[in-house]
Amino acid sequence: MRLHLLFERLSAFQESGGELEPARLTLTRWLALDRLSEEAYRRLMRVHLALGDPAAAWQVYVTCRAKLAEELRVKPSADTLALAEQMRASAASLGNRPARRATSQSQPPSELVAPLIGRAAAFRQLVASFQRARGGQPQVVLIEGEAGIGKTRLATEFVAWARAQGAEVLSGQAFEMGGQLPYQPLVEAIGPRLEAENAPEDLLEDLWLAELSRLLPELRVRYPDLPAPTQDELSAKLRLFEAVARLLDALAQRSALVLLLEDLHWLDGASLDLVRYLARYWKGHGSRVLLLETVRREEVELNPQLSTQLVDLGRDLPVSRVPLQPLSQAETLHLVQAIAGEGEQGTRREREPREHITARPSRAEPERAPAQEAETALVGLGDFLFAQTGGSRCTCWRRSSCCESGSGWCHG
Ligand SMILES: Nc1ncnc2c1ncn2[C@@H]1O[C@H](COP(=O)(O)OP(=O)(O)OP(=O)(O)O)[C@@H](O)[C@H]1O
Ligand SMILES: [Mg+2]
Repeated sequence: MRLHLLFERLSAFQESGGELEPARLTLTRWLALDRLSEEAYRRLMRVHLALGDPAAAWQVYVTCRAKLAEELRVKPSADTLALAEQMRASAASLGNRPARRATSQSQPPSELVAPLIGRAAAFRQLVASFQRARGGQPQVVLIEGEAGIGKTRLATEFVAWARAQGAEVLSGQAFEMGGQLPYQPLVEAIGPRLEAENAPEDLLEDLWLAELSRLLPELRVRYPDLPAPTQDELSAKLRLFEAVARLLDALAQRSALVLLLEDLHWLDGASLDLVRYLARYWKGHGSRVLLLETVRREEVELNPQLSTQLVDLGRDLPVSRVPLQPLSQAETLHLVQAIAGEGEQGTRREREPREHITARPSRAEPERAPAQEAETALVGLGDFLFAQTGGSRCTCWRRSSCCESGSGWCHG
């Protein structure tokens, strides 16, 4: 029983601290001792989801269900079923069934996804900001770095973790021509969320829904009786900002909110003003919001308006910067090994029939020689990539044109 408590506490601590790999190990050990702990199964499902491996999470659920049926003749509890349903729904919304993380064996190179490498400290920084935001101190975090360095990847992994912690996540992405489309990333973030809401009127009064309908005209289709938004040119913008701020605050009262805005360097001026307004509102209301932004460092340096906006934002809310550096040589090697699926090959080799191994040409150490060769080749490839990318400026292994052109700049 005390051991159970120890595993429970340790894994809770690791999960909430974003220590996902250690949490996975702790939970695996816990389940080895107690095959019937639904709490451990649920936590392990969440950790796999946060690690970006929905297929593994689903497998944990299947095992849990089978064990309970086999040994106790019961179904999983409502909490476990709810989590499974959540996984099923999010897989369906992505248009596919939970799929195992792709490997070099199963997918063409363009779809490879390696585990997140070398970003543990950055991830911890994000988790710490999230914890503060969840405690009622709204925060801004800026993930910054060169093109292709892994800003989106880190943000994606983090929001998956935050979602598994029960946070609401909204995200929008600015794009290069976006300057001519005011508010587009905010519309992208808010629109689908409101559409999915059963009763938006529980979140916002009609007056504010009416103002919001300037951004989201589909609201008028759903609520034809909404009053007309203000006709006063001067107050229209202010009212719109207020409506967005109220909506996000209402969501944050239900559960902590992460608003991810990608590629801030392309954000239009109107959205920048809105973000500034939101920051003031959240500060005044102690909203449980984390505003997470990704930005190319070189673009900020070239854009004085954006630099000024960021300084201004810092007057209202604490702004933490998460600068991403190129991967180290060892991390690059680790990445290459992960892509090559070396671990899996190792497992397969052990399963090969003995006679097959002894039939190999090398007589000295028949089982090890091919493995060593592969290892040497991978180390060589890792070193090569590290050198080619000037200390791994590009962490992308896909054969995208930017990589092939040898420009060294990868745009993911
Ligand atoms: N630490 C990492 N571990 C494993 N893969 C990574 C890592 N960082 C980046 N990648 C992979 O490298 C590619 C490029 O990363 P990403 O798209 O996140 O870059 P970015 O900084 O957002 O680029 P951009 O400035 O063009 O938006 C992606 O395929 C991503 O999965
Ligand atoms: Mg990106």
